[in-house]
Amino acid sequence: MVHKTKIAIFFLFFLTILQAEHVWLVKFPHKDNHLLHIQKSFPLIDLLQHDYDQSSYVFLIPNNYLSDFTHFIHRLHGSFRIITNNPEKTWKKSQRRSKRWVPSDNPLDQTYYQHFLSYDEQQDWYNLLKTSLLTKKFIRSYTIGHTYENRTLTIIKILGHSHRRHQQRKYAIYIDGGMHAREWLSIGVANYILIQFLKLRKTNVKVREILYNFDIYMLPLMNPDGYEFSRHENRLWRKNRSPTPHSDYWNGDQSCYGIDLNRNFPYEWNNTIGASDHACSHSYRGPSPASENEVISVVNFLRQQQLSNQKFYAYFNLHAYGRFWLLPWTYSLSKKVSNYDELFNRSSKVVSSVMKKTYRVGQASRLLYPCTGTSIDFAATLMPHAMTFELSPMFKGLPMCFDQNKTLDDTCTVGFLTDPKEIEIDGTEIFNAIVEYMYSIIRDRCL
Ligand SMILES: *[C@@H]1O[C@H](CO)[C@@H](O)[C@H](O)[C@H]1NC(C)=O
Ligand SMILES: *[C@@H]1O[C@H](CO)[C@@H](O)[C@H](O)[C@H]1NC(C)=O
Ligand SMILES: *[C@@H]1O[C@H](CO)[C@@H](O)[C@H](O)[C@H]1NC(C)=O
Ligand SMILES: *[C@@H]1O[C@H](CO)[C@@H](O)[C@H](O)[C@H]1NC(C)=O
Ligand SMILES: [Zn+2]
Repeated sequence: MVHKTKIAIFFLFFLTILQAEHVWLVKFPHKDNHLLHIQKSFPLIDLLQHDYDQSSYVFLIPNNYLSDFTHFIHRLHGSFRIITNNPEKTWKKSQRRSKRWVPSDNPLDQTYYQHFLSYDEQQDWYNLLKTSLLTKKFIRSYTIGHTYENRTLTIIKILGHSHRRHQQRKYAIYIDGGMHAREWLSIGVANYILIQFLKLRKTNVKVREILYNFDIYMLPLMNPDGYEFSRHENRLWRKNRSPTPHSDYWNGDQSCYGIDLNRNFPYEWNNTIGASDHACSHSYRGPSPASENEVISVVNFLRQQQLSNQKFYAYFNLHAYGRFWLLPWTYSLSKKVSNYDELFNRSSKVVSSVMKKTYRVGQASRLLYPCTGTSIDFAATLMPHAMTFELSPMFKGLPMCFDQNKTLDDTCTVGFLTDPKEIEIDGTEIFNAIVEYMYSIIRDRCL
């Protein structure tokens, strides 16, 4: 009996070792197309952050790549630092101080954006929005589908100002967050935006003007299965939690589950640039376009609204991190959407006026890297304005780097592991940007 337990413990330990991933900061002496090279030789490596100008990259590296990858770096005369060899432990350590969350009766209370709510808390909050006298007249909610683990996908609609009751606005805006599980900040910021639109619907001139012209649909948490997994099992999880044909590859390595929702949208899906057809990759595109419940639910919802005489006009897609304002197309380096110059000019103006010029605006494929099956590419086939924000910590995030002396270096961070304080800081910035952007469209009479 004792013997069996020992074997079981040893086996568990062994599995944990297999599943662990490292986060490394890698630097090369020369600018080059390192990324392409790396992705070819190490298809299951996950790029978390990069700075092409500095030739520096942050990677999430599966354990069984470590020695080959080290040789590879040395061959190119590069160097690396271990940011963490146990992200989960580092994360849990930093969380010890966090207090228990207490809900409020007021659905617009700041407590709903000062914390990273769990999926259940998020659902309870939607119910409060639907029933509270403060908000119920101004919103509708839609269950657009269920996830593989049967969590509900909920869209909240903020009703525009109407002259008549139940009148639908001609145009609509769509905003989503939480597509990638580990990007918690995008969910918090979406909740913040929802609250601000409701709070300011009457009092703020620009918000009021926007709600005279648009209804706003929000899906703050698109990937609840992945999100809950990242809360409880693996903080750096990105995909959803559907099983794949390779679910037991690498002795049940957990990364062989799940599909990257932002590679699964039914547009240029089969082009496989920057999207993987390997089930164990963090950017696995799935077995077929829109194979995932989360994706097909959104696709059907957007298409149905479009058929019901309400035109989607703009889509704001929230991710973290990197401080990028990304425009379509994502799938191609050379092709541009037909109104690209207008999108670029308008976005750049907003960055100058409300974001202290610190976001970089440009085509997603050029600023980041080309990839296929993304939600903004799909949305750009339905509506004239579609863009992704890669949010970021304004202040330095949680210290993550240990140097060779095992001392903490607080200049080195992983942007996913944000402090909840960041929600309000980034939320304010992005809310102002969206308001400014939509208001400029109304002002220019571009509708
Ligand atoms: C999924 O959840 C809904 C409630 O949200 C429930 O009615 C339904 O029975 C569940 N389905 C399964 C297969 O568990
Ligand atoms: C994707 O491309 C492959 C090879 O080009 C082809 O065999 C397959 O049918 C395509 N799949 C879809 C869904 O278009
Ligand atoms: C965008 O800005 C550039 C430079 O100011 C200008 O030449 C161009 O006409 C503008 N294009 C659009 C579509 O606004
Ligand atoms: C480690 O500590 C030694 C002695 O304090 C110091 O000289 C060295 O620069 C440190 N190494 C790093 C990478 O910080
Ligand atoms: Zn993302």
